[in-house]
Amino acid sequence: MRSRRSNSDVRPTFDHPGIGFGCDYNPEQWSPEVWTEDVQLMREAGVDLVAINIFGWSHIEPRRGEFDFANLDTIITMLHNNGIRVNLGTGTASAPAWLTTEHPEILPMVEDGTTRYHGGRQAWCPSSPVFREHARALVEQVAKRYGQHPAVALWHVSNELGCHNALCYDETSAAAFRTWLQQRYGTLDALNAAWGTSFWSQRYSAWDEISTPKLTLSTPNPSQVIDFHRFSSDEILDYYRLETSIIRQHSSVPVTTNFMVTAHIKNQDYWSWVDDMDVIANDHYLDHRLDNPRLELSFAADVTRGLAQNNPWLLMESATSAVNWQPHNIAKTPGEMMRNSIAHVARGADAVCFFQWRASVQGSEKYHSALLPHAGSDSDLWREVLELSHTLDSLDEVAGTTVISEVAFIFSWESWWAADGKNRPSTSVRYLEQVHAAYWAAQSLGLTVTMVPPGSDLSGFRLVIVPTLYMVTDAEAAAINDFVHNGGHALITFYSGIVDQDDRVRTGGYPGAFRNLLGIRSEEFAPLLPEHVVTLSNGWRGSLWTEHLRVTTATAVETYVDGPVAGAPAVTRNSFGAGEAWYLSTALNEQSYDQLLGTIVQRANVRPSHPAADGMLEIVRRADASRSFLFVINHNTHQTQVSASGFELTTGNRVDGTLTVPAGAVRVVREDSTHE
Ligand code: GAL
Repeated sequence: MRSRRSNSDVRPTFDHPGIGFGCDYNPEQWSPEVWTEDVQLMREAGVDLVAINIFGWSHIEPRRGEFDFANLDTIITMLHNNGIRVNLGTGTASAPAWLTTEHPEILPMVEDGTTRYHGGRQAWCPSSPVFREHARALVEQVAKRYGQHPAVALWHVSNELGCHNALCYDETSAAAFRTWLQQRYGTLDALNAAWGTSFWSQRYSAWDEISTPKLTLSTPNPSQVIDFHRFSSDEILDYYRLETSIIRQHSSVPVTTNFMVTAHIKNQDYWSWVDDMDVIANDHYLDHRLDNPRLELSFAADVTRGLAQNNPWLLMESATSAVNWQPHNIAKTPGEMMRNSIAHVARGADAVCFFQWRASVQGSEKYHSALLPHAGSDSDLWREVLELSHTLDSLDEVAGTTVISEVAFIFSWESWWAADGKNRPSTSVRYLEQVHAAYWAAQSLGLTVTMVPPGSDLSGFRLVIVPTLYMVTDAEAAAINDFVHNGGHALITFYSGIVDQDDRVRTGGYPGAFRNLLGIRSEEFAPLLPEHVVTLSNGWRGSLWTEHLRVTTATAVETYVDGPVAGAPAVTRNSFGAGEAWYLSTALNEQSYDQLLGTIVQRANVRPSHPAADGMLEIVRRADASRSFLFVINHNTHQTQVSASGFELTTGNRVDGTLTVPAGAVRVVREDSTHE
């Protein structure tokens, strides 16, 4: 597997032969007899990358300063002797009881000012110097002991950093927040200006008056909340750097941690982490609370690939079947684990790993699926695991290739935080839903998109999709302007370009940052009640949002025929330099959205990844300079055919012109000639 870094970069690279297949392993929960069986079954399943010591702290340091590595030594040796590579956790994810008993001040505080205690996990304040000191001592021991061990292929810092404790509101965090603010603003005057503290008598006259945004009676200061998100994300990253710097003193093995690019966890701005990661790794679980969990999987995989800068990445955790933390934990249907896993590989994953190896029988995750279920190896699930392993083996030659795309898609954690803040024009307009809607439309058209942060250089793409980019800096807006000016095409959707980095409204007409680019001017928002559907001049249906829009230089492509702004433009197109910029002022239903994007794609001369691809038939191409692989994932309940020629890797059959993909199956064709 190639590193995501350039040749000039000396960071370690994660080299793994082929596509990895692995899991989290928590041997602390089992007796040594079980370990022997585990390793034997891991071999049978072809598991080649195992994450251990993730929650090991209370085992390897049972009392302060007393270390006991006997069991960890044994496990690492057993794995190594069986040819299984170790993804070694630093063990710091969950503080042991002796630490929180001795130092209750490290416990995290939530928004209402109450403390959270030992007994769950991640019960530590990210800014706590006491926690950091103890974690540092532990990492030092682990890194020193195993830094040169031949089994260790990867370092796994903590676990899902910030999953539960990202936002800590205690006095330690408040002090760290103030330091962060001093660095950002320099003076109190600058802070007061940025936060708009003249409003509601919120003005600060000393740094010590500033705290974390704890629960207020009315709504808190929105700019303070955004800065607290930024600070909290930076603080967790700073913690990651601390662990990494210790590991680096003892080991040249690459370091990573598992991101949570999923639907419901939004506290890290992972774009700011990218430069610190040797290899990007993500955890993904289907979320059945969403309208379309499967499409969200593809979305998350594409965001992860974006973070990896289109280099291969690792799927560090996923579930073989049900999870245990949703209200209704839906078991996967036969073939679903295969389709889910290959969808990640199609979008750049060079390893597929699961939480966890053996299903727990105690603790709060005992109803979470695993590679080895409670039923044991005489089970359909285990047989599917073997089949998946076999399929991944057949795809080994794909490792190292990347995904081709002509369409950029801007995703922004800052806009997510800001757009979903309190006291907005409509609580029904939620950032991620609007992003997903745009992504679904791209999927339906068979478009593979590349996720980029705001401000990216977009040259090289033909089209950029910009959904609800609510918060945008001047420089970020300029990057989109430049792209269009130089001949690119853009689709920008409503509630974009509204505020600057301080959450300050851009005046003179909405959408302030994009008014000239789009050739439009909007005087007032006109959001809709949730059940209200409006009709556009061509029959398309919109909901949630309309606005009092008029065109300045743009063409009104469609207008509203009813609703609060009947007669006003609904969809506009503006020629700008050598390119074109489109504006969509409402939440189109799926069919209408597909048609709009279809038109834009045609005008931008973007080619879908494959003519047959649609939402139910995922077709993605991975390639390098000399080879290309066509991934076809058939989510339909019927067989389908697509045109392809080459060698089909999962069955070992030649394909001449027509590839038949059975219902629910996956196929990967090494294509005869390189895709242009
Ligand atoms: C992840 C976590 C794992 C396990 C898993 C269950 O968030 O990293 O330790 O809890 O969820 O789905």
